[in-house]
Amino acid sequence: MNIIVVKNEQELAQKAYDIIANMIEQKPNGVLGCATGGSPVGIYELMRKNKPNTSGITTVNLDEYINLDFANPKSYHYYMNEELFAHLPFKANYLPNGMKENAEEACADYEKVLEAHPVDLQLLGIGENAHIAFNEPGTSFESTTHVIELTESTRQANRRYFEREEDVPTHAITMGIKSIMRAKSIVLVASGEKKADAIKAMIEGEITEECPASILQKHNDVTIVVDEAAFSKCEKSKLDVVMA
Ligand code: F6R
Repeated sequence: MNIIVVKNEQELAQKAYDIIANMIEQKPNGVLGCATGGSPVGIYELMRKNKPNTSGITTVNLDEYINLDFANPKSYHYYMNEELFAHLPFKANYLPNGMKENAEEACADYEKVLEAHPVDLQLLGIGENAHIAFNEPGTSFESTTHVIELTESTRQANRRYFEREEDVPTHAITMGIKSIMRAKSIVLVASGEKKADAIKAMIEGEITEECPASILQKHNDVTIVVDEAAFSKCEKSKLDVVMA
């Protein structure tokens, strides 16, 4: 794992943006794996500002809620459109279809999309419980795209985006751990003290399905970009860290 520790969210966004812009330059017809949530917001802002040439780029997203209309501002379709797709030209944009009546079929469809578009660079955030995409603790490392019931802690973390507690979706379609690990390279971003336990477990803990992000220790091209607060529980001396 390459670990880059930065001072604040602005630097974090810049570092991750540089990695993405480099991939786009190297592979103008490449596939970018996108994430949603709070962590990538600054990165997408830089993409809107700097407008790298994305016209040949295909995007595939990690996940989508089940039964949330794409026109619903809380859906990840809506989020991606607002943050990125409406602002830059892409070759194609894919997200799992959480509105398909048969969710299992939607998962199989999405695996076919991923097979046809192998990811060159996957952007990831991390949950406070060390989930990646919506692969909650206990998810098999062999999982491909699947339906998942969100844990109470993830629903609480997402509560801020919804008006009422009962509006927070209970299920999502998510790329599996195996689907994510197929990406040629991965950049994971995290900021804030709330993520410090997850970051420590991911980098320094044992590789176990109880800590989904720990599987990234086995990937041969992962860059972790974290701010000092998210990195604060790691034993820095043990690690080969770049202080940005
Ligand atoms: C989003 C996703 C999630 C988030 C994670 C962190 O597509 O897959 O794994 O990356 O929940 O969310 P934030 O960035 O909002 O703290």
